[in-house]
Amino acid sequence: MHNDIREVLYSEQQIQEKVKEMGEMISRDFEGRNPLVICVLKGAFIFMADLVKQIAVPLEIDFMAVSSYGVSTKSSGVVKIIKDLDVPVEGRNVLIIEDIIDSGLTLSYLIDVLERRNARSVTVAALFDKPARRTAELDADYKGFVLPDEFVVGYGLDYAEKYRNLPYIGILKPEIYTK
Ligand code: XMP
Ligand code: MG
Repeated sequence: MHNDIREVLYSEQQIQEKVKEMGEMISRDFEGRNPLVICVLKGAFIFMADLVKQIAVPLEIDFMAVSSYGVSTKSSGVVKIIKDLDVPVEGRNVLIIEDIIDSGLTLSYLIDVLERRNARSVTVAALFDKPARRTAELDADYKGFVLPDEFVVGYGLDYAEKYRNLPYIGILKPEIYTK
């Protein structure tokens, strides 16, 4: 275990098993519907790479990067698109891949954008869910693990851009924040 990690919440093996289950469900549900899989950068990049290997239907992949505006506007759900999709979503069955849903504001903004662009359907797969701080009314269609209200890192998630490469998800030691 990395020296900055206080506690591992889910091991690499537990995550891989969950991702496989999610991939199997998605494969069944998207039979004949060739999804456009959208990876929300950066946090979802590892989840997305592992998940698509477990999805058996033909699919396409695209990437989107978003960031929230300052604290005051965050509550309004205003999100800035840093990198937009390369392909049109009109008429497509879109599957959004998110690392973690916290307040839900990022996701509700994304869903709104994709619906306004006339996606045929918008479905969400999120590996982690922190329902404690949810302000937007939404839930993932496919959900991996429900987490306590703690800041977590690893498996794509960062603190100050570090720890994304850890193969498990864990809680940072408090002294790392206050250093
Ligand atoms: P909202 O609040 O819009 O935010 O649902 C979702 C985004 O916030 C980030 N986030 C985290 N990142 N550890 C992280 O590394 C966490 O515990 C955490 N909680 C939220 C993440 O980028 C997510 O997409
Ligand atoms: Mg994210």
